[in-house]
Amino acid sequence: MTNDRVDLEALQQQVKTQQNIEKAITELFAPEDEGLRNALATAKAAGLPPIQISPIQGKLLQLLARACNARKILEIGSLAGYSGIWLARALSQGGRLISLEINPKHALIIRNSFANAGVGDRTEVRVGKALDLLPQLTGEAPFDLVFIDADKAPYPQYLDWALRLSRPGSIIVADNCIRGGKALQGSTEGLEKETTGPIEYNRRASSDPRLTSLALAVDTGHTDGFTISVVTSIE
Ligand code: SAH
Ligand code: DHB
Ligand code: MG
Repeated sequence: MTNDRVDLEALQQQVKTQQNIEKAITELFAPEDEGLRNALATAKAAGLPPIQISPIQGKLLQLLARACNARKILEIGSLAGYSGIWLARALSQGGRLISLEINPKHALIIRNSFANAGVGDRTEVRVGKALDLLPQLTGEAPFDLVFIDADKAPYPQYLDWALRLSRPGSIIVADNCIRGGKALQGSTEGLEKETTGPIEYNRRASSDPRLTSLALAVDTGHTDGFTISVVTSIE
């Protein structure tokens, strides 16, 4: 009894410590400004689900974009523009972000939020199904960074396209690649497409000789996160 209670208290303390650390890191390294806060408020008022990346994930995207000196960034799945703002702000001089979004109602909100955050001039929202829009991007490739965060079933196809639209040194990031551990399972048997997509994505990202990859549990609570890949060759 006593032991159980001590363990529970220790566990609660551990969770609290993790939350405090995350809060402190966010405040120090990834504070939201008016542009980001406005994007979230507008999304909430429009009734969009709060499924955007966390500030720490946003800062990580910026860091990766800066690391490859990104001038051209492609985002698949914009929602309300929150991740797009983080990405667009990391573009080097004259750079551009193209963001693909299936929902035309979101597109209006995104363009407004981009403008409000001061990145309207370097961003473009293309409305449609990503798998229809991606083939039209070959003339604008290579992209220095591709961020995948749309519907989960076609994740393996999005990886194929990201590779096709990349150069050696490009960085490919996919959100929701952990899913409480579900996306890291060895078998896809009997699972839903929303889960098998990220499982297959991770399988390829971890084994494709053209990629150096790592899945990182970086969302709030550390149960979901990014798989990050660097393209080392496109042959
Ligand atoms: N990247 C955003 C969150 C994206 S949520 C952020 O972190 O701020 C996923 C988005 O993908 C939704 O807006 C959804 O409408 C869009 N989406 C879903 N299926 C899609 C498809 N087939 N093609 C393009 N966008 C799609
Ligand atoms: C959910 C979260 C996401 O980050 C996403 O891209 C799609 C869905 C979710 O929690 O439902
Ligand atoms: Mg996501």
